[in-house]
Amino acid sequence: MTEYRNKQWIYTKRPEKLVDNTHYTLNVATLQTTDLKPGQALLKSTYFSIDPYMRIQQSGKDTWEEPHPLNIVQGGAVVGIIVAINDSDSSLQKGDWVLSYTGWQEYAITETNTLRKLDPKEVPVTTALGILGMPARIAYFGLIEVGKPQKGETVVVSGASGAVGQVVVQIAKIKGCKVVGIAGSDEKTSYLKETLGVDEIINYKKHPSAIEIQNELSKLCPEGIDIYYDNVGGYITDAIFELINLNARIIICGQISQYSGGLDNPEMGPRFLHKMLYKRATIQGVLARDYNHRMNEMLTEMTPWVQNKSLKYKETIIDGFDNLPKALNMLFHGKNMGKLIVKV
Ligand SMILES: NC(=O)c1ccc[n+]([C@@H]2O[C@H](COP(=O)([O-])OP(=O)(O)OC[C@H]3O[C@@H](n4cnc5c(N)ncnc54)[C@H](OP(=O)(O)O)[C@@H]3O)[C@@H](O)[C@H]2O)c1
Repeated sequence: MTEYRNKQWIYTKRPEKLVDNTHYTLNVATLQTTDLKPGQALLKSTYFSIDPYMRIQQSGKDTWEEPHPLNIVQGGAVVGIIVAINDSDSSLQKGDWVLSYTGWQEYAITETNTLRKLDPKEVPVTTALGILGMPARIAYFGLIEVGKPQKGETVVVSGASGAVGQVVVQIAKIKGCKVVGIAGSDEKTSYLKETLGVDEIINYKKHPSAIEIQNELSKLCPEGIDIYYDNVGGYITDAIFELINLNARIIICGQISQYSGGLDNPEMGPRFLHKMLYKRATIQGVLARDYNHRMNEMLTEMTPWVQNKSLKYKETIIDGFDNLPKALNMLFHGKNMGKLIVKV
């Protein structure tokens, strides 16, 4: 029998605005290999995915599901290693890298049939959280299936240098579109232009109102906007409606500007639905979990792109289990580029 000291971040208080350490309590529990029931594995967590949806689920109101309960381990995707397994029928074995959803704890026991095996010889295991993980899945299916990008069309992407955005802009380029990326610093917009090949960029922090963003967009999109892939909402999104083309497609992937308080007490924005009418445009929300069953389809197409570097990506990796709540807070200050991950 081996015993593991298991540090856990327990989610203990609903934030009203920004989330930080005060909404969590650090707990130390123990786990033993003898706790393993048939069909289970014991994992050592190595890489934790930090995602904006964690803040959405902290709202007290239902979203696509019930709010994250208080006084349990913060849920989330984790890449870890199997340190013990009690499942002779499984192809998994001790030492395998896996993707799990066991949340913010150093060790976890989980059912083997919930695990995705990762091959570090194929691609780095952290890609399962970002460029070949959930954010990529919604970028890929959201853009391709809902956006239906056509060669020569203009695609505007907000939150363009993040985990989702960096995939959307590159797939839109692969599909032959003109791409305008919006992000919150010169470092991010340079990355978009110089590394990812985005055609035009806007640092929204230099244009802090809808009308200023609209003026920029009208200069950069003289032929109008065919697709808007929205990761942020708020005034950046308000700015696009005057510029949409006939049959424009607006994809609502995220509204991060509203998560820290605006979900329970929404701001009033401009009334733009008449523009949707004139342009016979569509607006559709998209959710990564709706495409879970098509993950292999995405991996088959995108893994070679990552391997041959036709798809580039950034990860921001923060060290230290104790920094998990701080890392979640970073998302709302734009301190990450590409996928945000905590490593232990
Ligand atoms: N629908 C789905 O299934 C699904 C799946 C994954 C993610 N999402 C959504 O997609 C969006 C991006 O997620 P991600 O994982 O790729 O995160 P991310 O973009 O890697 O990180 C969040 C970024 O949001 C930007 N941001 C923060 N506050 C902002 C504000 N007030 N206004 C404008 N931008 C702000 C920051 O970049 P700047 O420096 O550019 O401000 C920050 O770096 C989120 O809204 C998320 O909820 C949806």
